[in-house]
Parts: sequence; C-alpha cells; structure tokens
Amino acid sequence: MSHSKLTHYLTQTALMIALLIVLGFLPGIPLGVIPVPIVLQNMGIMIAAALLGPRYGTAAIALFLFLAFLGLPFLSGGRGGAAIFVGPTAGYMFGWLLVPVVYWALMKLAGNHATNGWLEFAIMIVAGVLLVDGIGSVWLSMQSPMPLAGSLTSNLVFIPGDILKAALTIIIVRVLRKRIAFAGNGQ
Ligand code: BTN
Repeated sequence: MSHSKLTHYLTQTALMIALLIVLGFLPGIPLGVIPVPIVLQNMGIMIAAALLGPRYGTAAIALFLFLAFLGLPFLSGGRGGAAIFVGPTAGYMFGWLLVPVVYWALMKLAGNHATNGWLEFAIMIVAGVLLVDGIGSVWLSMQSPMPLAGSLTSNLVFIPGDILKAALTIIIVRVLRKRIAFAGNGQ
C-alpha cells in the first residue's frame, strides 16, 4: 500500500474515532426496566464498520473503547472508566468490537458488497444489531439476577430503534462511498 493511501486511511480512522466521541456527547435515554440506555453511539459503530472495513474499523472501535476504558469521558453522556467495562452494558461494547469483522465476513459470503443495498441492510441488521444486542443480553443476564430469557426479551425494546439506525447507516455510507474512497471500499 502506498504511503499516501495509508495516511488517507489512518486519517479516516482518526475521524471515525472523533465521530464516535461526538456521538457520546449525547446522553443515553434510560429505560427503567433494564439498566441499559438507548444510545446513538452504536450507529457510529455501524458506520465505522461499513466505511472502514474489518481492519481499520476494528482499530477505530478498539482505540475508542480503550480511551474510554482509561477514563476519558467518551461513552454516552460523558462517561468513562474501567468500571463500566465490567458493568451491565459492557457486553454491548464487546459486541461492538466484532461488528466490522462479522459484517465484512457476511458481505463476502453474500458475494456482493456494493450493489445491493437491501442485502447490505440485512447484513447490517445481523452484524450491527442482532449480534450486539445478543451479546449484550447474555452479558446482562450474567451481570444481574435477570435470567437469559428475560434479558433477551427486554432487549427487544432496542430492536426497532437499532434497525432504524442500521437503515440510516446504510443510506449514509452508500452516499459517502460514491464520493470518497474509504478504507473499507476495497474489502
Ligand atoms: C454504554 O455506554 O455503557 C454502552 C451502552 C450500550 C447500549 C446498547 S448498544 C445496543 C442497544 N441499542 C441501544 O440503543 N442501546 C443498547
């Protein structure tokens, strides 16, 4: 890879981390029934995965989470610190790390990464929504007295909003890809 291409992709990775941080300024919406808020940051994760590809996407998300782990106030509502990574919402964040790899593995499996928007939307629902909410639910049930069935059922509350975020993500990334060569374009 040429030096300028690498610089270009690293710049995109840095900008994506900035986007994730900005989305974290928005406070989460608490639900009461479950100790997990509705956030917008997971849409940033989907955008990072779809635009940056498995390597740069994972790097952006990992670095972002590492900075939050160190205590920088980058998670929704300006939270940060190691304690959050053993708390009830940690499973979702572990899931975030897998989104770029699973997303692009499914895209490759489907043999079509750019032409069919509906296919890409379906893949984003699997990798960016069901995978994350599934891992988050399992972790939550381990973290609380809530049984797995209860945790999975209560997580259904996130599905409509998360599917909407996946749809917006696909619309946004498909417009941007036409104008800019992203690190994930060549996957
Ligand atoms: C945190 O900031 O502690 C992580 C919050 C995780 C919230 C999850 S992400 C998937 C699901 N959709 C939402 O809107 N909220 C949960």
